[in-house]
Amino acid sequence: MSKQSFTLTNNQTKQSYEYPILEGTRGPSVLDLRSFFKDSGLFTYDPGYTSTASCTSTVTFIDGAKGELRYRGVPIETLATEHSYMETCYLLLTGELPDKDTLQDFDLEIRHRAFLHEGLRHLFAAFPDNAHPMATLSAAVTALSTFYDDHKSCQDDAGYQEMARRIISKIPTIAAFSYRHSLGIPFIQPDIDLGFTKNFLTMMRAYPGGKMHLCATGHEEIKEVEVRALDTIFTLHADHEQNASTTVVRGVASTGAHPYVAISSGISALWGRAHGGANESVIAQLELIGSVDKVEAFIERAKDPDDDFRLMGFGHRVYKNFDPRAKILKGLQDELRVELNLNTELMAIARKIEEIALNDDYFISRNLYPNIDFYTGIILTALQIPKSMFTPIFVIGRTVGWITQWIEFKKDETSKIARPRQLYRGK
Ligand code: SDX
Repeated sequence: MSKQSFTLTNNQTKQSYEYPILEGTRGPSVLDLRSFFKDSGLFTYDPGYTSTASCTSTVTFIDGAKGELRYRGVPIETLATEHSYMETCYLLLTGELPDKDTLQDFDLEIRHRAFLHEGLRHLFAAFPDNAHPMATLSAAVTALSTFYDDHKSCQDDAGYQEMARRIISKIPTIAAFSYRHSLGIPFIQPDIDLGFTKNFLTMMRAYPGGKMHLCATGHEEIKEVEVRALDTIFTLHADHEQNASTTVVRGVASTGAHPYVAISSGISALWGRAHGGANESVIAQLELIGSVDKVEAFIERAKDPDDDFRLMGFGHRVYKNFDPRAKILKGLQDELRVELNLNTELMAIARKIEEIALNDDYFISRNLYPNIDFYTGIILTALQIPKSMFTPIFVIGRTVGWITQWIEFKKDETSKIARPRQLYRGK
């Protein structure tokens, strides 16, 4: 066996086993333990997969210590400041950034595919007005799979790409319909004259007949600065390695179910407040704290092991330094503070939390820093997007990452059905 290996010895039986170390392009190498149970009769034990690599991937790279994030090798800072979300989608799906003509064709295809089958509209009527949009979104995406049954058997690049572009383009429409259903107001159909992000904001805000309704910021038209802010938010959420919801998507992919029910499962997993649901909880928490002078008391609660109160938007399994996406969003907040009339009271409370937490040993010793969800909510609030739509916005950004990882799983000949074992302690 090569030097790149581990020898594990069972001290009871004195039996030794050698396992190869597999190297990646970057990041930690892995110990290949696929034959460990067959060799030793023991399972490895790693609830939450804190030390486990579940797959090989070429999509996204995170260096948690450096606060580095790359999609297909391109730094997130470059994508967020020099490219659009549509370019980022094309990059994730194909591995390359598109040239001008390719981008134009891709963008047009996404615009044309944004419409839903008329039959799907009736699904929303089944839900009560106060249904959370994440519930309707997950149900509608599962329902979408019934209109495209052939995608279950797609096996070549052309089939994968058509299936992927279809779901990427329809998610914003479903999300906007979910929101308008919750208000009991008529749906606004997609407009192929509008780009992805402006089209979504229009489907969210317009009155029937297309006129913009007055927003709290008192203007009729959607401002370019709003489109740019939301487009950046979509880019920052596009993919993130093997996070909880992507792990669920790959798990559903491993059983051979329809790709859209894998996405629907990812939506359900993302909803949890420990994951994508945190952005909605952050704003609820800032509103609960209510004023800067109450921040200290809440920070003490977050540190109290007997109090299950956690500082939402803080901490991350991988980033043991600033989440680079949080850094970009913090810059965007400062840039848009005036143009978007950001809620300075909530921002002041958020900044006070940061100021105290980043100097408190409880957070420092546990490497707890603001994550992407800590900043998203303040900008989305300024875009007149209600809290209930924050996680659906995360879904819109992340769908391209989920479906890219689904395709990668399908194309990997070593992929197997996800079937972990357990440490049994029952009768
Ligand atoms: C996302 O994985 C991804 O990449 C996810 C994501 C993506 O793009 O897909 O980045 C998106 O989900 C971001 C995370 C959003 N969630 C939140 O903001 C919720 C609040 N944060 C946590 O619940 C927590 O930090 C997690 C879930 C994010 C990470 O949990 P871990 O890695 O399992 O860490 P842990 O729960 O083991 O905590 C380690 C210690 C514990 O204290 P001790 O037991 O050592 O005394 O840190 C404490 C925790 O109690 N801790 C917190 C805390 N987060 C962790 N204490 C107070 N407030 C917090 N937010």
